[in-house]
Amino acid sequence: MIRKDRKDSALNAPHSAEAPYTQRTLWTETDRDGEHVCTLDQTMLPHAVRTLRLSTLDEAAHAIRTMQVRGAPLIGVTAAYGVALAMRQDAGDAALEAAVARLAATRPTAVNLAWALARMRKRLTPLHPAQRADAAWREAAAIADEDAAQCRRIGAHGLTLLRALTPAGRRLNLMTHCNAGALATVAHGTALAPIYAAQAAGIDLHVWVSETRPRNQGLLTAWELKQRGVPHTVLADNAAGLLLAQGRVDAVLVGADRIAANGDVANKVGTYLKALAARAAAIPFYVAAPASTIDFGCPDGGAIPIEERDGDEVRLIGGTAECDAPAGNRDSDAAGHNNAHVDAPAATHANRPGDMGECAHGKACDGRVTARILPADAAVANPAFDITPAAYITALITERGVCPASAAGLGGLYRDTSDTP
Ligand code: MRU
Repeated sequence: MIRKDRKDSALNAPHSAEAPYTQRTLWTETDRDGEHVCTLDQTMLPHAVRTLRLSTLDEAAHAIRTMQVRGAPLIGVTAAYGVALAMRQDAGDAALEAAVARLAATRPTAVNLAWALARMRKRLTPLHPAQRADAAWREAAAIADEDAAQCRRIGAHGLTLLRALTPAGRRLNLMTHCNAGALATVAHGTALAPIYAAQAAGIDLHVWVSETRPRNQGLLTAWELKQRGVPHTVLADNAAGLLLAQGRVDAVLVGADRIAANGDVANKVGTYLKALAARAAAIPFYVAAPASTIDFGCPDGGAIPIEERDGDEVRLIGGTAECDAPAGNRDSDAAGHNNAHVDAPAATHANRPGDMGECAHGKACDGRVTARILPADAAVANPAFDITPAAYITALITERGVCPASAAGLGGLYRDTSDTP
């Protein structure tokens, strides 16, 4: 189960481990101050499950920028709610424009963000300011509901492909990269939706999950696969080529942050290398994404902006402390994280990652530590995404069906592009 204490609201389907398709990563809660947006803080996962409550535009923008929420569809939905939260404070024209601009500046690559903001702006601009707060909330909820429904349909279309790929007499072996699961969307995921559908259909499968340095989103994938009982194995990113070459993978499934009009795909850095290795080994390579990820205004992958993130994501590495370091071994707090707690006596928080409590130093401790693996002045390149040319993609899986990664293929599914960015 993702959470036990999650409250359901009109927005949310009931949460149940028995019915994983109904789980939502983003939901709303109401108290006397009004309605708030809730999600899981993904900077804490997989070490601790923490609810993040967003009540202001500032909090929504911060959550997207720092990747407390992440994944293309989820940041789009969060941005939509960010506009709704802003409208509760000030629903004037200037405030609307400022909120949209502020949220648009948080992350550049996933087009779902710009798409959701454009949709909110189009819906709210013609309204009288007095009507905007309620209308904004309803529109954000509609975007969230549509995302969940589209991901479910991606799962159904992908299941047809997976059925055809399932080998007789042995389990189906899939590989994925980053996290394109329920955590990256409102529910179900994109690349993981067909996997969950296949599991529900009784297909015996196993998923190779690449770690996805430097932010390790693969660990989020492993976490959510474990929640749902899907057999999986985590591998270091550089091991993927060997597994593909050895024939230990039947298909690769990944998500997307932006699909250009010609079918080129921007996705988490490392995706391109997997596509190359899959092509060399003649293994199918599928990209799953909803309409909100397709950018018909972007001619090809070369026109997609690639986010360059802080070099400290490469220089530092995080995890949980085993808490067995000898006393006095409390080195630095170079990154401003929890390094100071690594020498806490085992009894206080050893081997209980995520079990928040007071450590021996009297500080709140979640068991997480950050270690430096490169000096602060080490030159680092940290592009967060790469481009996989359409030629390396076997097919796209969208909520409307499966199509070739090409202008013609996309055009076949989306003759009316008014519902895409
Ligand atoms: O930097 P992130 O974690 O937001 O990047 C996420 C990805 O690259 C995902 O693969 C993509 O958004 C698809 S999510 C359904």
